[in-house]
Amino acid sequence: MATPLFNDGLTVHTQSHDYPIVITEQCDMAASIAPYIKGQQVLIVTNDTIAPLYLQPLQQQLAKSFTVAVCILSDGEQYKNQDSINKIYDTLMMHHFNRDVTLVALGGGVVGDMTGFAAASFMRGVDFIQIPTTLLSQVDSSVGGKTGINHPQGKNMIGAFWQPQMVLADMSTLQTLPARELSAGLAEVIKYALIMDEGFLSWLEQNLPAMMALDLAILGKAVKRCCEYKASVVAQDERESGVRALLNFGHTFGHVIETHEGYGNWLHGEAVAAGMLQAAELSQKMGCLNSDDVARIKRVLILANLPITPPAIDVDTALDLMGHDKKVKRGQIRLILLKSIGQAVLTDDFDVQLLSDVLSQQVV
Ligand code: NAD
Ligand code: GLY
Repeated sequence: MATPLFNDGLTVHTQSHDYPIVITEQCDMAASIAPYIKGQQVLIVTNDTIAPLYLQPLQQQLAKSFTVAVCILSDGEQYKNQDSINKIYDTLMMHHFNRDVTLVALGGGVVGDMTGFAAASFMRGVDFIQIPTTLLSQVDSSVGGKTGINHPQGKNMIGAFWQPQMVLADMSTLQTLPARELSAGLAEVIKYALIMDEGFLSWLEQNLPAMMALDLAILGKAVKRCCEYKASVVAQDERESGVRALLNFGHTFGHVIETHEGYGNWLHGEAVAAGMLQAAELSQKMGCLNSDDVARIKRVLILANLPITPPAIDVDTALDLMGHDKKVKRGQIRLILLKSIGQAVLTDDFDVQLLSDVLSQQVV
């Protein structure tokens, strides 16, 4: 078993089942996840970047106790699609795996979301385990059971809520993560502070340099804090009928960037960063935030090496893309805005002209 970095382990409570998040470093991944594998069959899903780094010891160790197959997908957001899901199904069928199988997602949010979706749909649902290897997936995507793939016209349009049996976050994996990807993960970390906890933003202002220098203890603390926020939200609203929508702060704007620019060109976290600033600017125009708040948000994003200027996108095109957002209700775009730093609200009560002004503003 992995030694948890923090003694008080974390549990996510959901209607389907409760499951642990283990945050650790330098762990034996196979030994850590084995107690959560109920059957004899295991399919590890990963990609061609992560496989050479982390697959072999996991596969070899698991093979001592289970029948293990591997599915290696092409790396990239542009492969978060039905073809990749079919590749997972094909591997499962080829090995005659059945409902006893446990899928293991070894990778970032793209691998995790797709593995979860394959698990949710194969034979109407089998177990899966998340081993997130990016900061973004450790603080956000591996927790809470949102799984799925993109559609050419919209991010994460096809999917299911399907909770993992456990999440194993080994901080040491971040040592091989490119700096740009670490920054992309910091966007989601900053998101929690902006929507839930001003005090955490102050902590981040102090600790972002250490996180970017790969201080694993500080990173572990941040991951634990974010997972606590996320677990508390998911426990209240697993299927996003209310408070969970707040976790999408910056995402409606960000998804426009990702979809318009072509999946993979702007990293998800980068698009969320620029999107959070756009949402903050709209919040300011509506009289909720002041200019000091917006300047503070901009500073912290810059400190994390994140982009703050969205690409030029025609306003009508952006509004059209926003119209595909999953939060749209009765044809009305709904946005997450900030009432203050640390307090977010989901609303359709905004002036579309102010939104258009923010969308047309390229240099912020
Ligand atoms: P990613 O999965 O594309 O990983 C980023 C890059 O880092 C990839 O090239 C990957 O191969 C590589 N990589 C991963 N771990 C590595 C490691 N330890 N060392 C070296 N390279 C490594 O991107 P991501 O930022 O992890 O996830 C983004 C995805 O997550 C998006 O598709 C987004 O929609 C989704 N997401 C889902 C949720 C959710 O709740 N399900 C939440 C947020 C984001
Ligand atoms: N990343 C948003 C959510 O999980 O709800």
